[in-house]
Amino acid sequence: MDADGPLYEQIAGHVAGLVEAGALRPGGRVPSVRKLSRQFEVSTNTVLQALSTLEARGLVEARPRSGFYVRPRAAADIELPRTQARPAGSVRVAFGDRVPGLFRAMREVSMVPLAAACPSPALLPFARLSAAAVRVARVSGPMAITYDPLPGYPALRREIARRLVAAGCAISPAQVITTVGAVEALHLSLRAVTNPGDTVLVESPCYFGVLQLLSTLSLRAAEIPCDSSTGIRVGLVEKALRRRNVRACVVVANFSNPLGALMPVEEKRALVKLCRQHEVPLIESDVYGDLPFEGERPVPLKAFDRDGWVLHCSSFSKTLAPSYRVGWVCAGRFQARVEELKFTQTVATPTLPQAAIAEFLVSGSYDRHLRSLRGSLRNQILQLREAVARHFPPGTRVSAPAGGFLLWVELPETSIDALELQRRALRLGISIAPGPIFSASEGHRHCLRINGGYPWSDIIEGAIQTLGRLATARAARG
Ligand SMILES: Cc1ncc(COP(=O)(O)O)c(C=O)c1O
Repeated sequence: MDADGPLYEQIAGHVAGLVEAGALRPGGRVPSVRKLSRQFEVSTNTVLQALSTLEARGLVEARPRSGFYVRPRAAADIELPRTQARPAGSVRVAFGDRVPGLFRAMREVSMVPLAAACPSPALLPFARLSAAAVRVARVSGPMAITYDPLPGYPALRREIARRLVAAGCAISPAQVITTVGAVEALHLSLRAVTNPGDTVLVESPCYFGVLQLLSTLSLRAAEIPCDSSTGIRVGLVEKALRRRNVRACVVVANFSNPLGALMPVEEKRALVKLCRQHEVPLIESDVYGDLPFEGERPVPLKAFDRDGWVLHCSSFSKTLAPSYRVGWVCAGRFQARVEELKFTQTVATPTLPQAAIAEFLVSGSYDRHLRSLRGSLRNQILQLREAVARHFPPGTRVSAPAGGFLLWVELPETSIDALELQRRALRLGISIAPGPIFSASEGHRHCLRINGGYPWSDIIEGAIQTLGRLATARAARG
């Protein structure tokens, strides 16, 4: 080193310079202490002193057992999306006719994958899970290709129940019915508790899979506004339950889709109590519950259920293997009806994927995998928020989820309509999920959902930059 000043200051200046030049991005990992000490031929203590100086200046942050990361900056100044002010009335959900071709475009595999809500295959334990599948096929022999009798594969139901108990629910294996993904669990739950023409309370914005199910079951949706941090507004649910004849309520309490909101514990308790008082079945999807960025797994709504009014639906699609299509439902007082419907709908859940996942869970591999997956997703969401903050027009708002891997972006009113943004982005090879598909009443026209399930790359940064440019061009014209 030949520059002036104490060595640690020179190293701090070097790292700060990398950040300024964009060579190290917000949320990105700073080269390791060992690497820097070799590079500058100084002791690790000197490097640590340099990094502590940068930490005190707010430029980097230390993460336990992981190293130093560039602190996200611009995103700290960006505001959260607004809550839609009032609930909409009850509407028939006519989904397919309104947005033709939209879902086909979202599934296009050649696109930059910012549309579908799924983690990158690179983050999933393909080799270990495949090895488990081979092992169980060998051990089970031909049993692995016979029908698995209802309510599902016993070893898997034991593991699911064990995990639910650890998350605060009073569930035994006998109360778990395995399903073909969470979407079948939701479908069976809705069929068990509603009849065509009934009204169902849903979140706004709402996971479009739920709206599609309402549409195919000829159900009506009454949308309840959600806060982007704390989810569905329980006071508005209460009003709706008093005013309307509601037959079910569907809620994603943990890291919702698309907002990423997490309901506080007291709100969860109040919602379950309210539904019980009104004798309204409460259907929850907890597919993102295992993915908090930090700390304990949040409790499912089912943890507050004393009388079986909560139908808890989930799957391994967001954490392990979307294509295995293994989910489950704990249907409470509706268990017998759901089992009957499951038998007529798909007879059984495929045996081998259930057995492979059971083996994976029993071995302890799932918890190890979750620890690393959560760290990756946290980092990806930080980078994505930073990039949106950098590239989107002033006035853009963005969610700040504490888990999962979805980001909800609200563009300024003067900006482009999200369906038009989707059309233009598709022409440039980028797929996004436009706001209106998360609404039964053509809402959220200036919003979009971005999938943060893929490791950060120049391609994704470039796609965010392009989306920001498309949105900015219109915002500038007004
Ligand atoms: C909230 C929610 N529930 C259910 C599902 C469907 O999950 P699966 O793929 O297991 O059917 C999804 C998928 O995006 C989801 O976001």
